[in-house]
Amino acid sequence: MERSLVLIKPVAMGTGRGGAIISRLEKMGLRVVGLKILRMDKALAHRHYAVHEGKPFFESLVNYMTSAPIMAIVFEGEGVVEAIRKEMGTTDPSKAEPGTIRADFGLDIRRNAVHGSDSVATAEEEIRLFFADDELFPG
Ligand code: RTP
Ligand code: MG
Repeated sequence: MERSLVLIKPVAMGTGRGGAIISRLEKMGLRVVGLKILRMDKALAHRHYAVHEGKPFFESLVNYMTSAPIMAIVFEGEGVVEAIRKEMGTTDPSKAEPGTIRADFGLDIRRNAVHGSDSVATAEEEIRLFFADDELFPG
């Protein structure tokens, strides 16, 4: 079954939106098969965002994502990667479609409430960074 990694960013944790975000995704028929709260260290943030290394926003993104606890959730479902990307909305909350998670809970392009895997292959790599096999409970 297809899986995707969602990270609930510090801004959404700090404003108590974690449950609301999970609830929205569950209501779409997606199933939680792994969940943890953690504070990313620099090494994990560098690995997770390796594709952005060298870009102007990279260091500030890593600093932000390591500044406070986040929630990491693995969702499972048919077409889950695309379904979550659509529900999240575009990267910049000020440009995100009304009713999307980023439009509703994001503050700015860095503090945009959530991360969601952008392909099935990326999802599997990202999930392996955050979860051991015995921490996942596929349906
Ligand atoms: P994500 O990976 O977090 O799900 O978001 P995304 O695909 O929509 O955006 P991506 O281009 O992969 O960027 C990853 C995260 O970097 C921050 N960002 N800041 N111009 C900027 O300042 C800028 N551009 C991207 C965002 O927090 C984005 O989620
Ligand atoms: Mg991305």
